[in-house]
Amino acid sequence: MKVIGKMLVLLTSFALLLTSVTACGSRQSAKRIIRISHGQQETHPDHLGMLAFKKHVEEKLGDKYDVRIYANGLLGDSKNALELCQTGALEYVIASASNLETFSRTYQLFSLPYLFSSPESFYKTMEDTKLTEQIYETTDSSGIRVVTWFDAGSRNFYSKKPIRTPADLKGMKIRVQPSPTNIAMMEAFHASATPLGFSEVYTALSQGVIDGAENNELALTDQKHGEVAPNYTYDMHQMVPDFLVVNLNFYKSLSPDEKAVFDEAAKIANQVERVEWKKAIEQAKKQAEKMGVHFIYPDVNAFREMVLPLHKKILQEYPDLKPYYDQISAFNKAAAAETKKS
Ligand code: GCU
Repeated sequence: MKVIGKMLVLLTSFALLLTSVTACGSRQSAKRIIRISHGQQETHPDHLGMLAFKKHVEEKLGDKYDVRIYANGLLGDSKNALELCQTGALEYVIASASNLETFSRTYQLFSLPYLFSSPESFYKTMEDTKLTEQIYETTDSSGIRVVTWFDAGSRNFYSKKPIRTPADLKGMKIRVQPSPTNIAMMEAFHASATPLGFSEVYTALSQGVIDGAENNELALTDQKHGEVAPNYTYDMHQMVPDFLVVNLNFYKSLSPDEKAVFDEAAKIANQVERVEWKKAIEQAKKQAEKMGVHFIYPDVNAFREMVLPLHKKILQEYPDLKPYYDQISAFNKAAAAETKKS
């Protein structure tokens, strides 16, 4: 599988390179093509954010750059797309924090279950650019860097049979994003972790290769997982953001003025995505209900207690994470104090 994956990355890189060369030979092609890949549908907030990105870049620098967005994982699942971004065959990729763990272990922070105690604390953390910039720089040695983040809500379990307590997870085969922390989390839940690419989940569920998965509500509707796993349990185990990742060589090749345009476009994409996210989640809940999805509201603490020891374990193994972790804990406390006041 690994060899096939590598070959695919090589072949896609080559094909992309060819289209660049062809484009350079044609008339419109004095423009540099900027390729952006993501695994969501064209109605997804990530895509809408990137349309705003494209609009801004082309309004300011349209004589020089032609921004093309490839949705639906057309150029591969996040893992392969990130490898293509590393080689420079893609300029930008949207990937979940979980996919970045293999490039920098700092990103495993975001997959720690119950790291954020509330959405408020999540937003405070993600808006703290002093903190996030330090994290974003940790993949520089791999030739990629995060330029902004996108809301991806909270991740919850969904399955064929209802999960009401953590004990129900015992022995179940649950799909996770390919990442060591996600696998460790499922072990802590006594379930069996099955790492798979996003696009493989529907088939795996319908063929019974897995018993369930975990994701935000949009997976139920956009990806139609609700058709085959109609019990959605709000255990809220993670808030894992998506990130917009850039090829560092490309990013560094930009002049200061151009860089300012691309950076501003990334900021706009973040703002648009966050507004669209809120609307999309409300719609997805209604649509999922119509599809026959049954929402379960369990005792979240029971789930939390089972996996909290993972924090200590991972911090002991990776002490570099401690300063970020402490800062996020402070945000958790501040957010809790604010909620108490209001
Ligand atoms: C979410 C997230 C994606 C991720 C997917 C997954 O949809 O936004 O970036 O790839 O979950 O579980 O693979």
